[in-house]
Amino acid sequence: MAFSCRFSIGSFFVGYRNSYSIFQENGIYLKSGNDLKYEDGAGVLILTMSANSPKIISNQFGIHDKLTETVQKHMATIYRKPLAKFSIPAFIEAEKTWQACGKPLILDSGCGTGESTLRLARLYPSHFVLGIDKSAVRLQKAAGISASNLAFVRTDIFDFWRQAAAAGWRVERHYLLYPNPWPKKRDLKHRYHGHPAFPDLLRLGRYFEIRTNWEIYLQEFTTAVNLISGFLPQIERFEPVEFFSNFEKKFHRSGHVLYKSCFSFHNR
Ligand SMILES: C[S@@+](CC[C@H](N)C(=O)[O-])C[C@H]1O[C@@H](n2cnc3c(N)ncnc32)[C@H](O)[C@@H]1O
Repeated sequence: MAFSCRFSIGSFFVGYRNSYSIFQENGIYLKSGNDLKYEDGAGVLILTMSANSPKIISNQFGIHDKLTETVQKHMATIYRKPLAKFSIPAFIEAEKTWQACGKPLILDSGCGTGESTLRLARLYPSHFVLGIDKSAVRLQKAAGISASNLAFVRTDIFDFWRQAAAAGWRVERHYLLYPNPWPKKRDLKHRYHGHPAFPDLLRLGRYFEIRTNWEIYLQEFTTAVNLISGFLPQIERFEPVEFFSNFEKKFHRSGHVLYKSCFSFHNR
């Protein structure tokens, strides 16, 4: 839904959610989706801003100094935290749905509003794609998405990885698109590679693809993969040709640099 508004106070506008600053005189800002345009009084477009995600700000300037210690601890210990109550029926239901489909499995962990899940289902029609997210609000937006080889499950991905690894699941392709970065130094434990379920994540799969707009996240993730498997995945900077997911679109349109790492364990 589009809206327009006029700003009459002063000539300096500190942008939408403070992500940029522009001067305005007598004009109109037009917002539509993630696009923001500024037209002058005669309707001439003089500026187009696309999306407004702030760049990641962190008090970390490289790989976390506790990363190795954390990953090694998770490799050496069994994670005993009880599963959340909702995780058990969610996993049973997901397993039933996958088995009923009878196709090899692709996971889209942290699928958000499901655009990537649908894209994967179309790209791999001979696979079954499961989109997992804990957010009811995001999954409600995915409610209109349907395909015969796709389903969504609302649960916690860390529990799900543990349950799937314990059940001996084999995941052909696993997508981890734009995980929440948790950029504060004290938040390492919330990042995928800083969580005790990380070794289970790696046990599950063959092919992995992770994308992010925070290079340090990927440097840490690949270092953690190396600590566990002895293999160091490459990191590449990329320009999306088509947007794979909602956040990819948002970050790219906000001018962020995007990074990805794609790697396979061939012995699985
Ligand atoms: C930045 S969004 C990215 C969404 C989507 N992959 C995309 O690229 O558009 C991160 C997503 O991960 C989900 N998420 C974060 N932690 C989670 C967890 N522990 N279990 C399940 N989903 C989680 C959030 O609800 C959110 O939808």
